Amino acid sequence: MENISAILYLIAAVLFILALKGLSSPVSALRGNLYGMVGMLIAVVTTFLIMDKPVLALIGAAIAGGAVIGAWRAKTVQMTGMPELVAAMHSLVGLSAVLIAVAAIFHSGVEHTPVQKVELFIGAFIGAITFTASVVAFGKLSGKFGSKAVSFSGQHLLNLLLAIAMVGFGIVYFVSDSHAAFLAMVAVALVLGVTLIIPIGGADMPVVVSMLNSYSGWAAAGIGFTLNNPVLIIAGACVGSSGAILSYIMCKAMNRSIVSVLLGGFGAEPAAAAAGASGPKNYKSGSAEDAGFLMSNADSVIIVPGYGLAVSRAQHALQEFAELLHEAGVKVRYAIHPVAGRMPGHMNVLLAEAEVPYEQVQEMEEINSDFSNTDVVLVIGANDVVNPAAQKDKASPIYGMPILEAHKARTVIVVKRSMNAGYAGLDNELFYMDKTMMVFGDAKKVVEDLVKSVAH
Ligand code: TAP
Repeated sequence: MENISAILYLIAAVLFILALKGLSSPVSALRGNLYGMVGMLIAVVTTFLIMDKPVLALIGAAIAGGAVIGAWRAKTVQMTGMPELVAAMHSLVGLSAVLIAVAAIFHSGVEHTPVQKVELFIGAFIGAITFTASVVAFGKLSGKFGSKAVSFSGQHLLNLLLAIAMVGFGIVYFVSDSHAAFLAMVAVALVLGVTLIIPIGGADMPVVVSMLNSYSGWAAAGIGFTLNNPVLIIAGACVGSSGAILSYIMCKAMNRSIVSVLLGGFGAEPAAAAAGASGPKNYKSGSAEDAGFLMSNADSVIIVPGYGLAVSRAQHALQEFAELLHEAGVKVRYAIHPVAGRMPGHMNVLLAEAEVPYEQVQEMEEINSDFSNTDVVLVIGANDVVNPAAQKDKASPIYGMPILEAHKARTVIVVKRSMNAGYAGLDNELFYMDKTMMVFGDAKKVVEDLVKSVAH
């Protein structure tokens, strides 16, 4: 049985890796998810087969309950509520790591080797930090706790002291096997999870959620060592490393350093320099009809979707409009910035929901050099991701952030409700360029008008 289970675990591990590979592109994401599900099924069934006296009724009831709740949440969650749902799920991973570690400590008659003690210690404290930090992240993202950063003097010192106390209790447990010291270590880690997360503003939460995802993976891997379960170690390591890589990519795309995000403070709140801060400037505005005329007479159009598209849920109307342009012989493509919207892959998910053909959707690196040969760029509900200050203004807080080079196209049409700033709170020179026409209104309403204007 041992050999068979090793082979089955190996198959599950390969499927997890294939799942991650599949999830790296919207085209193969569905297949990737399927691999992950089959891998998990194999891992769970194999674990049942090799378990010593499994408490089937209890485990079965827990799995059934979890499946029902999971299916219900997956059906009811709004796309904008995804980050907080993910945070809530990470809290459960952290909590399970803590509970498994505590159960292992209190398991009578079991002697833990020094290596196992270290694994238990690491799995438990990472799990505890992940648990409370994820609960706070969930609260901030869902607006239940208020999304403002909470900071006070001596905050970093307090965190340092808590970390020292946590390690101290861990050492006491290591040398004396004291259960009380282990529980004290977990308690301090639970507090540390809260104090680490409160100085981080709601707007930086997506990076933090991705970091917590990574932590929860490492906690699971640590517990995998304790339970001597190779598939848990591999799955945990996959989650841990992919979460860390995603956090890095997000920070890079937002021009943040991961250290400053995690320590809180930098960019926790939108910068004060709001639109129009340097006095009134001139811009041109036009109607949806004017914009429709320009685009239907163009050879090529690139659509740049942003957060406003998600807010107004204009993706279906937009796809209809793009289809009409396509039928009229216009080459239409969508340009995706890695941090457009408010969560990783936000725009890809929206466009996939509207069944936009994948070949029309291009990532920033693929499409950026094409803007200068493009007749019209339609910027819809996006702002920061097309702000030329990121390339030109060394004093700008977003200087260095890679942008979609919409300003290089022959004509730019920007759809938004006002001249207000975006997430970074900055004015955008693109809106005042001679070649730019602003079309004011809710994105969905404007796109519906665009459809009407080109349909007849
Ligand atoms: P933003 O810079 O936030 O700009 C969105 C624009 O949409 C706003 O200027 C707003 O202008 C407009 N808007 C809002 N509701 C609208 C509606 N109903 N109809 C039409 N327009 C509407 O968005 P972006 O360009 O997508 O950039 C994303 C920003 O979020 C970046 O700064 C990024 O760093 C940050 N961020 C991203 C993530 C991830 S992972 N994607 C996570 C955290 C932060 P009006 O108010 O004038 O309409």
